Amino acid sequence: MPAILTLTPNPALDVFTSTPRVQPEHKLRCTAPLLHPGGGGINVARVLARLGTDVLALFPAGGLTGGRLQALLEAEQVPNEVLPIAGETRESFSAHEEASGQDFRFVLPGPLLSESEWQACLERACQLRPTSGLVVASGSLPPGAPADFYARLARRLAEDGRRLVLDSSGAPLASALDVGVHLVKPSLRELQEWTGASLQTQAQRRAACEALVRSGKAAIVALSLGPEGALLVSERGAWQAPALPVPVVSTIGAGDSFLAGLVFALASGRELPEALRTALAASAAALLSGGTALCQPQDLARLAPQVEIRPLA
Ligand SMILES: Nc1ncnc2c1ncn2[C@@H]1O[C@H](COP(=O)(O)OP(=O)(O)OP(=O)(O)O)[C@@H](O)[C@H]1O
Ligand SMILES: [Mg+2]
Repeated sequence: MPAILTLTPNPALDVFTSTPRVQPEHKLRCTAPLLHPGGGGINVARVLARLGTDVLALFPAGGLTGGRLQALLEAEQVPNEVLPIAGETRESFSAHEEASGQDFRFVLPGPLLSESEWQACLERACQLRPTSGLVVASGSLPPGAPADFYARLARRLAEDGRRLVLDSSGAPLASALDVGVHLVKPSLRELQEWTGASLQTQAQRRAACEALVRSGKAAIVALSLGPEGALLVSERGAWQAPALPVPVVSTIGAGDSFLAGLVFALASGRELPEALRTALAASAAALLSGGTALCQPQDLARLAPQVEIRPLA
């Protein structure tokens, strides 16, 4: 059994390219594409594997694109288990505009999963018993999967003491929080959407995270704040960390690297402030490369001492 299991209900083959300027009508000449295996849980597994963690990436896949995605994961030596589906795995297309430095991200819905296909994902995720007890579920849900897919997973895992780590948005996130999860990693945008509040000040953000903890929706809340860094809240305290001033090549996969750093540290028995340090450094390391290349261990190790962790009174 792996130490950590990741589940990605809606994986994608990530295609990344750059072009001088994005404009309508014209043919946009692009650089040779970078291909990466993608989807939240898969990205977390890729980083965990690089850090030497015994991880298993579980995901449904089908068609030629599904095969390609799995081959890329194999090439990165990420242990994986595919649940075959009739549909074709999606591609996600990102274009970096050189003139502005902005990334344009085109996200397709993914294949339709039949009831037996999404049920098989749920069953298998519950059958596998990672030794740390940590199951990381991340990303959107594919068409056909019910909005309470993550809520069902949360309920089943909690029944025998396993700990769900969730990174998702919208209704799938909301319904899982109603059941309760071990750790949730919303971005500011996702928490704003969930609370319906603008959460402009640090006090408001912290209060929203504390409310999640107090109401039993999540034992740990890791709120990532893009260029503003991150906030970590649990019953044991609250900590804040500013983002590191690294050159930003691409923010794609920053959140997934953040979550991988956090889970890696927690599974290694580190305390919450140190886990926040690892998460922050992993996300900063992910900014250094294009596409979904994610963080490299040597960058994480170099950047971690630079992270400033501030306990909040
Ligand atoms: N522009 C940036 N400058 C510095 N650090 C950044 C920047 N963008 C992201 N980060 C780092 O990456 C982490 C995760 O980023 P973010 O909060 O945007 O989450 P995300 O999951 O990538 O967002 P979303 O899922 O909403 O697209 C941040 O906590 C921060 O440490
Ligand atoms: Mg995210």
